[in-house]
Amino acid sequence: MGENTIALEELGDEYFQDPHTFHAALREQSAARQVVLPRGLKVWLVTRYDDARLVLADPRFSKDHTRLAPLFDKHLAGQGDRVHVDQVLAQHMLNTDPPNHTRLRKLVTKAFTARRVDQLRPRIQQITDELLDEITGRPEVDLVDALAFPLPIKVISEMLGVPMDRRDDFRRWSNILVAGTEPPLIEEAGAAMAMFLADLVADKRDNPGDDFFSALVHATEDNDRLDHAELTSMAFLLLVAGHETTVNLIATGVYNLLRHPEQLAKLRADRTLLPGAVEEFLRYEGPVNQSTFRFTTEEVTVGEVTIPEGEFVLASLLSANRDENRFPDGETFDITRPAGGHLAFGHGIHYCLGAPLARIEGEIAIGTLLDRFDLGLAAEPETLRWRSSALMRALYTLPVSLSARGPR
Ligand code: HEM
Repeated sequence: MGENTIALEELGDEYFQDPHTFHAALREQSAARQVVLPRGLKVWLVTRYDDARLVLADPRFSKDHTRLAPLFDKHLAGQGDRVHVDQVLAQHMLNTDPPNHTRLRKLVTKAFTARRVDQLRPRIQQITDELLDEITGRPEVDLVDALAFPLPIKVISEMLGVPMDRRDDFRRWSNILVAGTEPPLIEEAGAAMAMFLADLVADKRDNPGDDFFSALVHATEDNDRLDHAELTSMAFLLLVAGHETTVNLIATGVYNLLRHPEQLAKLRADRTLLPGAVEEFLRYEGPVNQSTFRFTTEEVTVGEVTIPEGEFVLASLLSANRDENRFPDGETFDITRPAGGHLAFGHGIHYCLGAPLARIEGEIAIGTLLDRFDLGLAAEPETLRWRSSALMRALYTLPVSLSARGPR
C-alpha cells in the first residue's frame, strides 16, 4: 500500500463514529486521496465541494455496470474476492450512463415530480399521525423504530404496491446489502431479494393493481418498455432508496435538533423555518456519506491530483457539505442559514429522483413530532452508535424521552 493510501479499516470504527474530523483533515490536505474501503477495494476519495460536483456530474466519471466487474477485480488490492451479488439487481439507472440512463429515468420521472408527490401529503400525514398515536403515553421510545423507519417504508411500499408482510425480511436484506461488509451474507441477501422482487414483477404482470409499479410493468413510453430484469432492478433501487435514506433524514435531523436546543427553540417559535431547517439537516449531516461508485473513463485531473483511467472515485457528500469555501462556518448547525446548493441528494443526471418525496416526508414527520411532543435525548450522545457503512450516515437507534403537548 503506498504511503499516501489510507485504509479506512485501520482508522477503525472511529471513522464511522466521527467521519467529520477525518474529512476536515482530508479537505485541507489534498483534492483526492487513495483510500482502501473495509472489504479491500481501493478508491479515490474526493472531499471538497467543487471537486465533488465535478465527480458527480462530469461524464468522464462513468457508472456503467457492464464495465465494473473487471475493475473490481483489479482494485481489490489483493485483499479478498469480489462479492457476486445477483446481476439482476445491478441494471438500474444509478448504475448506467446515457443513453440507457436517460431511457430508464424517463419511464419513472413523472411519478416523482414535486407536484405528483405533493398529492401524497394527506396520506403521509395520516401514516405519521397513526405512528405517533402508537407511542403517545410512552415515556421513552427508540425514534428510529417508532417513526423514522416505518414512515418512509410504508409510503414507498404503498406507492409501488409492495405487500407489507415481508417487511422485516426486506429491511434485513436491504441493511446487509447497503452495509456491504459481510460477503456471505451479502450474496445470500442479494439472492433472496432478487427472488422476492422477481415474484413481485410477475405478480404485477398477472394481477395488476392501481399502484405505480403495476403501471410501470404495463407502461409504454414512446413504445419503450422495461424487460423483466430491468423491472426487477428498478423495484430494487426504488425500494432500497426508500428504505435506507429518508429514515436517516428524520432520525439524524431530530438528533441534531436535540443536541442544539437553541436551534430547536427557534424552530418551535417560528414554524415557517421548517423547510429551511430540513435543508440544513441534509447539509449538516445528510443520510449519504460517500456517493455510489464511479470510475474514470480517461485520465482526469481533480484539483491538483491526476487520477489515471480506470480508477474508482467516490465523492464524500458529507464532507463536501461542510466545505468552508462553499458554506462559511460549515461545521456549525444553523437552521436559518441558506443551505441550498448542498449535495445531499447528489448532483447532475443522477440527482436523487426521490428528493421531493423525501423532503415532504421529513417535513411532515419532524413537524408533527414537534407539534405533538416535548422531547429530549434519552441517552448520552457518546453512547449512540452510527452504522459502520461508508455509504450511509445512519444511527442504529435514537432513544428519546417524550411527553405529549396536549391537543393541537
Ligand atoms: C433524504 C432522503 C434521500 C437522500 C439523502 C437521497 C440521496 C441520493 C443521492 C445522493 C443520490 C445520487 C447518488 C450518486 O450519484 O452517487 C440519489 C439517487 C437516487 N435516489 Fe435518492 N435519496 C433519498 C431518498 C430517496 C427516495 C425516497 C427515493 C425513491 C423513491 C430515492 C430514489 C433515488 C433514485 C431512483 C436515484 C437514482 C437516480 C439516477 O440514477 O438518475 N431517493 N439519492
